[in-house]
Parts: sequence; structure tokens; C-alpha cells
Amino acid sequence: MNAKRLSRFLPPFLFAILMQSVAFFTLTNAAVAPTGDHLALLAIKSMIKVDPQGVMTSWNHSVTNFCQWQGVTCGSRHHRVIMLDLSSSGLIGTLSPSVGNLSYLRVFVLSNNSFSGEIPPEIGRLFRLQELGLHYNSFTGNIPATIMNCSNLQVLDLDHNNLVGKIPDRIGSWSMLNNLFLSLNNLTGTIPPSFYNCSSLEQVFLDHNQLKGRLHENLGLKLPRLQSKIA
Ligand SMILES: *[C@@H]1O[C@H](CO)[C@@H](O)[C@H](O)[C@H]1NC(C)=O
Ligand SMILES: *[C@@H]1O[C@H](CO)[C@@H](O)[C@H](O)[C@H]1NC(C)=O
Ligand SMILES: *[C@@H]1O[C@H](CO)[C@@H](O)[C@H](O)[C@H]1NC(C)=O
Ligand SMILES: *[C@@H]1O[C@H](CO)[C@@H](O)[C@H](O)[C@H]1NC(C)=O
Ligand SMILES: *[C@@H]1O[C@H](CO)[C@@H](O)[C@H](O)[C@H]1NC(C)=O
Ligand SMILES: *[C@@H]1O[C@H](CO)[C@@H](O)[C@H](O)[C@H]1NC(C)=O
Repeated sequence: MNAKRLSRFLPPFLFAILMQSVAFFTLTNAAVAPTGDHLALLAIKSMIKVDPQGVMTSWNHSVTNFCQWQGVTCGSRHHRVIMLDLSSSGLIGTLSPSVGNLSYLRVFVLSNNSFSGEIPPEIGRLFRLQELGLHYNSFTGNIPATIMNCSNLQVLDLDHNNLVGKIPDRIGSWSMLNNLFLSLNNLTGTIPPSFYNCSSLEQVFLDHNQLKGRLHENLGLKLPRLQSKIA
């Protein structure tokens, strides 16, 4: 309904109030600085040094709605980022700790790029996260202990990075985890006993690390859903 038709329809004083609030809303909206998810996405962009395919070209000020940026998916009701997928984009850089501010994130995939540096511990703030795919990058350091706070995790794929240290002790508390891929890193230590409490596991790949010991032989009994394993 346009303004003219609206003015015929509404009493004049109501129409004036309505138009004033429309103008006010437009004005404040234009002047407001980015906040929340918008700011976090800009911080993530700022740590990416090379973007050969220009996948982040749309992450700019002329596209004010960050939900339309390439690789970003928002929930329809709350306008928050629920999925961020920048896989196979040739990106070179590090991962900003601000990713932990995308508190509605459920799927986060950066696979097949050249991310280096550590996986920021702030990832543990993403308690809604169901899928984390950082495979085929050059992440270093430990798997952050805070990752155990992502209690809804179903898929964890960290294959083919340069990760060191141990598999988190409390891994068994991931009751919904069904795919665990940690191959081709430099993980050490043993497979934690609590691992056998991940009763939803369907696929596990732990090969090409420096892990000691083997998976239990009666794994199939303890992990009834397990279809394949390599350790
Ligand atoms: C992320 O959240 C923290 C804590 O709420 C805040 O201090 C920081 O400014 C936020 N960062 C960005 C880039 O939004
Ligand atoms: C901003 O994003 C739009 C949409 O993808 C694109 O057409 C435009 O070239 C971008 N502007 C800049 C300055 O990169
Ligand atoms: C990895 O990304 C590159 C582009 O950067 C693409 O050409 C290649 O097919 C991707 N590989 C896989 C296995 O997806
Ligand atoms: C996350 O995990 C760390 C260590 O594992 C813990 O200290 C912290 O309280 C947890 N909670 C949040 C919200 O980060
Ligand atoms: C693992 O560690 C060994 C020796 O410390 C090193 O030579 C090798 O390059 C490392 N591999 C990876 C994938 O980081
Ligand atoms: C596995 O789960 C059982 C039942 O919830 C619990 O009693 C046991 O302590 C857990 N084991 C480990 C190693 O976490």
C-alpha cells in the first residue's frame, strides 16, 4: 500500500505519526553501525588475506544485509547466521576468534582452503553447532579443549591439518556425534576410554596420526551404529 492510499485510509493524525516513525526508522537504520553477526563476519573477513576467487566480494558495505553474502545462510525468523560455508575457495588466512560470536551457527565449513594458525578456543561458544568441517587446511596447535562445549556436534571433520596434542578426554560426552574424522594430523596419545561412550558414531577415521594403541576389537558391540573405522 503506498502513502497516498494509506492517507485516505487512516485518520490524518495517525497517518502523520506513522510516517514520522517510518522516517525515523529509515534514518536510524541507515546510520547504525554493524553489530552482532554482521560485525563478527567482518572480523572473519579481515583475517583472510588472499581470496583468489573473489568469494568474499559480496561481503561489502553496498550489500547491507549480510544474510545475502556469499557462503552465509541465515535463519528465516531471527535473521541470524545459521550456516557459514566457505569451502574450496582458495582462501589464505587465519580464523578470527569472532567466529565464536555467531551464536546461532549450526553448520560451519571451511574445508579445502589454506587456513593456518590455531583453531580459536572461542569455537566452544557455539553451543548450537552440529557440523564443524575444517578439513584440508593447515591449522596448527591442539584441538581446543573448549570444543567439548559444542554439545550438539554431530560431524567433526578436522582431517588433513597439522594438529598436535591429544584427542579430548571427554569426547564421550558427545552423545550425538556420528562422524569423527581426524586423519592426517600429528595427534599423539591414546584413544580416550570415554570414546566408547559415543554411541551415535557411524564413521570414524583416525589414521595417519601418531596415536598409540588400537581401537577395541568389540567396537561394533559398544558402538552399535559404527559402519567403518580406521585407526
Ligand atoms: C564478540 O563478542 C565479544 C563478547 O561479547 C565482544 O567483546 C566482541 O567485541 C565481539 N566481537 C565482534 C567482532 O563482534
Ligand atoms: C559488493 O557486492 C556486490 C554483490 O555481490 C557486487 O556486485 C559489488 O561489486 C561489490 N562491491 C565491491 C566494492 O566489491
Ligand atoms: C579444492 O578447492 C579448489 C579451488 O580452490 C578446487 O579446484 C578443488 O577441486 C577443490 N578440491 C576438492 C577435493 O574439493
Ligand atoms: C567451555 O569449556 C571451558 C573449558 O573446557 C570451560 O572452562 C568453560 O566454562 C566452558 N563454557 C563456555 C561457555 O565457554
Ligand atoms: C608430524 O610431526 C613430524 C615430526 O615431528 C613432522 O616431521 C611432520 O611433518 C608432521 N606432520 C604433520 C602433518 O604435521
Ligand atoms: C560412559 O558412560 C557411562 C554411563 O553414562 C558412565 O558411567 C561412564 O563413566 C562413562 N565412561 C567414560 C570413560 O566416560
